[in-house]
Amino acid sequence: MLPDGYKPSDLVEPNVPFIFKEKLEKRLMRKEAAQALEKLFAGAKKDGIHLSGVSGYRSYKTQTALFNRYIKTHGEEAARKFSAAPGHSEHETGLAIDVSGSTGKCAAEDCFANTPEAKWLAKHAPEYGFIIRYPKGKEAITGYKYEPWHIRYVGINIAKEIASKNITLEEYVQHMILVSK
Ligand code: DAL
Ligand code: ZN
Repeated sequence: MLPDGYKPSDLVEPNVPFIFKEKLEKRLMRKEAAQALEKLFAGAKKDGIHLSGVSGYRSYKTQTALFNRYIKTHGEEAARKFSAAPGHSEHETGLAIDVSGSTGKCAAEDCFANTPEAKWLAKHAPEYGFIIRYPKGKEAITGYKYEPWHIRYVGINIAKEIASKNITLEEYVQHMILVSK
């Protein structure tokens, strides 16, 4: 859980396309993550993969509205598997963003998993410091359903280690705690 009233101090707008035109808060990310995202989008483009941002930073207030809406439409138990409670979303850290192909087709939907964009992200995101935060088959560890579109900035070294070991951030952190004892 994030500290009460947490808001990242260095939110900026990455210079990448989004699937919407408006100047909304969800364009924002923390500076280091935004710069890494620009590099990731440029790298994808070189491989013929045209990505767009779907949803980056969210305030506590926005996460609250979103979470409450999902509880109404899906019921609390189901909603908790794909939406974080207010104060618990990585989107509130400014270090995570949902991405899609430039058409916005399958944006933040299960059908994104089979797209060339999802395959490119799974293979290359770690080279830019991002991990697929909620991988397939790791639901019991992360607490969330597979989200092939949700990438989280952790820095290149950690992202590569997490990807090469096929582990989650939870397992990485646990491992770091154990070896530091
Ligand atoms: N969809 C992810 C889990 C979130 O709400 O932060
Ligand atoms: Zn997300």
